[in-house]
Parts: sequence; C-alpha cells; structure tokens
Amino acid sequence: MRKKIVAGNWKCNTTVSEGVALAKQVSDLVVSKGAKDVVVVLGTPFTHLTSVAAIIDKSRVSVAAQNCAAEPKGAFTGEVSVSMIQSTGATFIIIGHSERRDYYHETSEILNKKVALTLAQGLTPIYCCGEALAIREAGTENAFVQNQLEETIFNLSAEDFGKIVIAYEPIWAIGTGRTASSQQAQDMLAFIRGLIAKKYNQSIADNCSILYGGSCSPANANELFGQPDIDGGLIGGASLKADDFLAIINAY
Ligand code: 13P
Repeated sequence: MRKKIVAGNWKCNTTVSEGVALAKQVSDLVVSKGAKDVVVVLGTPFTHLTSVAAIIDKSRVSVAAQNCAAEPKGAFTGEVSVSMIQSTGATFIIIGHSERRDYYHETSEILNKKVALTLAQGLTPIYCCGEALAIREAGTENAFVQNQLEETIFNLSAEDFGKIVIAYEPIWAIGTGRTASSQQAQDMLAFIRGLIAKKYNQSIADNCSILYGGSCSPANANELFGQPDIDGGLIGGASLKADDFLAIINAY
C-alpha cells in the first residue's frame, strides 16, 4: 500500500528560532489532532535540521532537507552532503525542485547523482518534476515530464525505485495561487504512474507515492487528495502556517 504523505517545503524562510517554534507547533498539532495514516514531513533549511529533528515527535513527523551536494564529500565549499544531512536526523531530501533547476542550473545529470547518493545513504528522495507554463500551453507537458523522469530516475534499479517519492509540481502553479485543477493534477499523476508501470512493473507503480505541489491550500487539498492517483502534497506557502498545514494534513 502506498503511503499518504504531506510534506512542507519551507524554502528560504524562517530563522532557526522561528523554524523551531513552527516545527514544535506543527508536531504538537499533529500529535493531538493529525490524521494518523498521513506521513508528515517538514522540509526546513539546512541550518534548522538538527534543532527541528530534536524537538519534533519523530513517531509522527519527519524532517527533510531541501537539497544536497552531488558529491559524497570533499573540497566543495558551501555544499552539504547527504551524510551530513543524515547526521542531523533528517530522513528525506527534496531533490530537483524547479527553483533549483531554474535558479541554480541543476541539470538531470546533477540530479541523477543526488538521487543516487541519497538512496545509497538510506534516505528517501522526494524527487520533483513539472513543466513551465509555456510547455503546458503548447500541450507538451506529458512528454516534458516523461523526459525529466527518464533522464533522472528511470535509470534506478527496481529496488531503489521502490524507495523514492515523486512530487509533480507544475511551475505555473507554484506560489501563484493558480493551482492545477484536480483533474489536471490527477491526469498527470496517472500518466506518471503508467510510465512507472511500463518501465518497472504494476506493483512498483501502485506502491509509489506521487504527490502534487503548487498552491495547495486548506481550500483545495480535499478535492486534490480525493483523486485516485494523488497520494498527498508538497506544500510551500501554506506549510509556514501550522494551522493551515494541519488542515491540509487532515484533508484526506
Ligand atoms: P506553494 O505551495 O507556495 O505554491 O509552493 C509549492 C512548492 O513549490 C512546494 O515545493
């Protein structure tokens, strides 16, 4: 059975003390009122990981980094390796977010290495894909996303592929308030699941958690999560407000 996952991506927001306070609030709310069958993940800045991992209830909430180095260690000033991330207590790493691809020129080749290093260290990649508005308007979004998957994660062994989480985030829906309709999101996630079934097998496809991200909010989460192929969300803005994030967690 694939897992339902609601993951927050805090992006470049909050100081350490603000982040710790937010994480504590979320953790307490999840423990007292959160749906028990939802895996809750907090994607914090690197600087917050250790402190956040120390104050959450780890039986209900997990921590994610938002990026990692493409090399295991060495002379790469400013980079943070997967083993460093693991040593904080984080268990997930968001990889290939469109903001990293666009602003920091992360190519499929780089992302491929990051995914492999994350898996080798026993952490779970939340691999992001998704098209820009021009591609959606040209009607070529399926081919574009297929290419992203083929270049970055379809080289994984079946065993490794069975460990990853995928997040589809159309760039035109991120931070814009213009969410994909539940049908658009469902169609793409069903397409991705079909590709996984063809490339690997139906059981791996059925067990892969595929999330939707992009202007997900308490107002639209219920309809989105009601779609058969949507296994949860990767949440940006709304994950910075504990009550909104809890409402999304409980939208199933
Ligand atoms: P918003 O929820 O703010 O649109 O961000 C989505 C996102 O990019 C999560 O990774």
